[in-house]
Amino acid sequence: MNVLVTGGCGFIGSNLVKYLRRARPEWTIVNLDKLTYAGNLETLKELEGDPQHIFVRGDVANRELVDHLMALHGIDAVMHLAAESHVDRSILGPDAFVKTNVLGTQHLLEASRERGIKRFLMVSTDEVYGSLGPTGAFTEHSPLQPSSPYSASKTSSDLLALAWHHTYGLDVVVTRCSNNYGRYQFPEKLIPLMVVNALHDKPLPVYGDGANVRDWLHVDDHCSALLVALEKGRAGQVYNIGGNSERRNIDIVKAILGLLGKPESLIKFVKDRPGHDKRYAIDPTKIRTELGWTPAHTFEQGIQATVRWYVDNAAWWERVMSGAYRQYFDTQYKTR
Ligand code: NAD
Ligand code: DAU
Repeated sequence: MNVLVTGGCGFIGSNLVKYLRRARPEWTIVNLDKLTYAGNLETLKELEGDPQHIFVRGDVANRELVDHLMALHGIDAVMHLAAESHVDRSILGPDAFVKTNVLGTQHLLEASRERGIKRFLMVSTDEVYGSLGPTGAFTEHSPLQPSSPYSASKTSSDLLALAWHHTYGLDVVVTRCSNNYGRYQFPEKLIPLMVVNALHDKPLPVYGDGANVRDWLHVDDHCSALLVALEKGRAGQVYNIGGNSERRNIDIVKAILGLLGKPESLIKFVKDRPGHDKRYAIDPTKIRTELGWTPAHTFEQGIQATVRWYVDNAAWWERVMSGAYRQYFDTQYKTR
């Protein structure tokens, strides 16, 4: 099987590419990534020289390139992760979000339809459902009520994928996962940002009163769910992915400070994010009962291991923060 993974140099994508190489060693992975600020090829250094990981720098919205890659490598299935992913950036500048998340997905769907791809896995998000009150959880039937430019663009791509199934018969499966955490997450997202700031004794910016709730899942559990959805999901279906680990932001921040032995006086409550969703919670009953998926990590164990990873791998995030990681592509690939 030859699988096109888009966004394979991002946080989830890079963990997924490595996971697939271990779990399905007979597969060839073609990794198409534009290497935006969030794409870090260095994260995949251990796959250097692996003939079954083919990296291509390019844009998912480049139809000619996608057609060429699909034909050249005999692509059977697509796992579509490439996206602009950060809510705060979407508030500051939504253009790239519409271009990549909406138009990019449309181009990829068209290319997949014309090529007759056997399965298209659309990696969507729980943010398509908007915000919850104090109780209840999102099911696959919850109304779609995205709040931010990011979540609106993801909802658009999610619905485009389903439309390509209903209208053209493309074999599409959509997954909607909750907040991921783990190794190699860009230090703009809550958990790595707080760890890095705490390690530098810098203020930890908590939006609003810190009472917003997110439902956390270890990235490895997301990867295992994506593989299950790819292999066993039913065409045209949506599967929520989550690990029943709701936490208030402030409690996460305090837990990180505790693990690092840093004082809570570093916490700084700052102006709230505009349109800030109050609470997310995923009901993962469908993927658990229908596809037999279960997460392997508890949040307590996962956050401890993740904080440890950032402490032990300062070289990785220091190169991200200084911008040095961008040179890796130039030295490894441009000169060939
Ligand atoms: P990320 O920002 O870390 O990585 C995104 C990757 O996509 C980067 O490598 C980037 O270079 C690449 N990319 C961006 N625009 C591109 C383009 N036009 N063409 C090709 N590549 C491009 O994001 P992430 O957190 O790893 O998220 C991956 C996917 O999972 C996204 O679709 C996101 O919406 C979804 N998701 C994320 C979470 C989460 O908690 N992080 C939860 C649910 C769903
Ligand atoms: O739910 C899935 C989504 O989770 C994904 O689709 C997105 O791609 C991913 O970025 C993530 O979105 P969030 O907005 O929930 O993640 P973020 O890490 O940006 O913020 C988590 C919570 O922490 C949110 O309530 C805002 C808050 N926050 C965030 C930052 C960066 C702070 O209080 N301070 C901060 O500095």
